[in-house]
Amino acid sequence: ISTQDLAGRRVVITAGPTREALDPVRYLSNHSSGKMGYALAAACAARGAQVTLVSGPVALATPPGVARVDVLSACEMLAAVEAALPCELFIGCAAVADYRAASVAEHKLKKGDDTSGMTLELVRNPDIVATVAARSERPFCVGFAAETQALETHAGDKLSRKRLDLIVANDVSQAGLGFGSDDNAATLLWREADAVRRQALPPQPKTALATAILDHLVTRLP
Ligand code: C5P
Repeated sequence: ISTQDLAGRRVVITAGPTREALDPVRYLSNHSSGKMGYALAAACAARGAQVTLVSGPVALATPPGVARVDVLSACEMLAAVEAALPCELFIGCAAVADYRAASVAEHKLKKGDDTSGMTLELVRNPDIVATVAARSERPFCVGFAAETQALETHAGDKLSRKRLDLIVANDVSQAGLGFGSDDNAATLLWREADAVRRQALPPQPKTALATAILDHLVTRLP
């Protein structure tokens, strides 16, 4: 039995990729497996939290004691998150597609008779974690930053731009870590007395990393 240090806390977590339809048979998406978000949901529930997991399409079982809401697109994910609020802790772990098709074709898109390419018109998706963090009654907001270069600079920018309380930065260019794998390493970044503070978490299974992230989080929750 783990410590019940999240007993009675309401937690909303996004996980997995989003899937943005182009036509009835095609979509834009990414390689997110959902493992990190699901590990966090399982760890929060084991520590006594009331967890809503808003999940994109993944091949994972719902962790015990977790209320799961399945969505496809970023817009659906935002609507499901807003319906699950208020909460005390929001963790945006999903790999949300930055863009969606400007219009979804009603019928299957056909290729032209010639060999020329085609141009898709895309529009920006809403930023879910930034939308939650901008609310007046806001939960403690945690974001993730998957970077391939200048990890701490980019993650620090996201921390301020999205008005997050904590960002979990991970280097997805390291072989065997991050996207799709069972292991991950991360640096936690947060702001304290006008300075950005950091704590490095070594490579470990995502389940152990979820516990390490929560151990840090529980000390900082209001
Ligand atoms: O800007 P970037 O996509 O790298 O930021 C990653 C963080 O922002 C993650 O926490 C992710 O879940 C969140 N995000 C979001 N909505 C988006 C894009 C990213 O919630 N449209």
